[in-house]
Amino acid sequence: MRSSRTQVGIIGAGPAGLALAQLLQGAGIDSVVLERRSRDYVLARVRAGVIEQGTVDILRRAGVAARLEREGLLHHGVELAAGERRHRIDFAAQSASVTVYGQTELTKDLVDARESSGVPPVFDVEDVVLEELDTERPRVRYRRSGEAHVLDCDFIAGCDGFHGVSRKAIPAAVLKTHERVYPFGWLGVLADAPPVSSELIYLSHERGFALCSMRSATRSRCYLQCELDTNVNDWSDGRFWDELASRLPGELASRVTRARTIEKSVAPLRSFVAEPLRYGRLFLAGDAAHIVPPTGAKGLNLAIRDVDQLAAGLVAHYVERRDGLLDAYSASALRRIWRAERFSAWLTSVLHRYPGQTSFDRGMQLAELDHLVSSAAARAAFVEAYTGL
Ligand code: FAD
Ligand code: DHB
Repeated sequence: MRSSRTQVGIIGAGPAGLALAQLLQGAGIDSVVLERRSRDYVLARVRAGVIEQGTVDILRRAGVAARLEREGLLHHGVELAAGERRHRIDFAAQSASVTVYGQTELTKDLVDARESSGVPPVFDVEDVVLEELDTERPRVRYRRSGEAHVLDCDFIAGCDGFHGVSRKAIPAAVLKTHERVYPFGWLGVLADAPPVSSELIYLSHERGFALCSMRSATRSRCYLQCELDTNVNDWSDGRFWDELASRLPGELASRVTRARTIEKSVAPLRSFVAEPLRYGRLFLAGDAAHIVPPTGAKGLNLAIRDVDQLAAGLVAHYVERRDGLLDAYSASALRRIWRAERFSAWLTSVLHRYPGQTSFDRGMQLAELDHLVSSAAARAAFVEAYTGL
């Protein structure tokens, strides 16, 4: 059995765990990041793409925004389309913007930074168990290459995503969860093809939602609303592009480049909130604590804001010997989280086709979109929520 000790044990090397380690190191606080998957697996994962300005600011403070600010695409508007109708929502009036930069690239920047720091994440750990959480000496037991390890900590940060072990380590009598599962998923592809437009297009169509996003001027990231039991093997590249074109307004449909796809996957949609986000010396952050449907592009942004808030609390504990911020973490993060849940669930309900949807339901969806494009107040509220102002 190998024993070691750190100030903050971090479970999970997703954006939340890696960014937390980076923020803590900037304040002279030690941490160890334990990750179940391999380094290659973590670096290859394709997920989110829209980064709020506030998230960029945090990443800059963490010293990991240089490539993002060089290569990310700054967007000052987004398009919403329904049938043949297209409407651009301009962020300029509120001096707002978002950066389009893949989570895959951000993860690479974070892993590079952790490796240069001399304290790289520990990949390929198995059987992670959290113990003594309600004491001042919590610990993590795990196995790696067949060997048993124990990591003694002052605090543990549960950044291990929705399916991780951290949230489950909180006694059922303490943890309350709130959930909505949607009756559809998203089929996403990545392809070396120019995007159909220079800005993102969110599409509400009788055949279902679609989203045209991008990673660069030559790489498209597109999503289609799909059935939950969709098998990617039933979706040839040709079928995907045909279906996307069928949901796009005519002039955009003609701009779809039917390139070979590099990645294709299905993600279910879910809204989920756990509370409280603290149990003794364990703190939850990111997808371990909450899930939003991807429609509002909030998941990654929430995760980074969580760990920024948590890092501030830990810094106050170690540097100023004050625990007020740590004590306030759960309640204050949850207020921000519920606001993002509201926006994500609302945008999902407006843009997707629901089983059994009536013509009245469809009329309500179109009226919501109409309200959004015709009311300056509604547009301003949308921009505020979407860009994270
Ligand atoms: P994660 O990125 O999930 O990282 C958690 C890490 O913990 C993982 O590396 C995992 O392997 C590790 N882990 C799990 N269990 C253990 C364990 N027992 N021990 C050690 N490590 C463990 N958001 C958007 O805004 N737009 C999108 O298009 C989008 N697409 C998504 C597609 C999928 C399939 C998923 C799952 C999420 C998607 N999201 C999207 C959400 C966004 O990617 C997440 O909100 C973001 O990754 C959250 O970061 P995180 O670090 O909290 O969690
Ligand atoms: C992307 C993903 C989203 O969920 C979203 O709302 C916008 C863009 C993307 O992967 O580019």
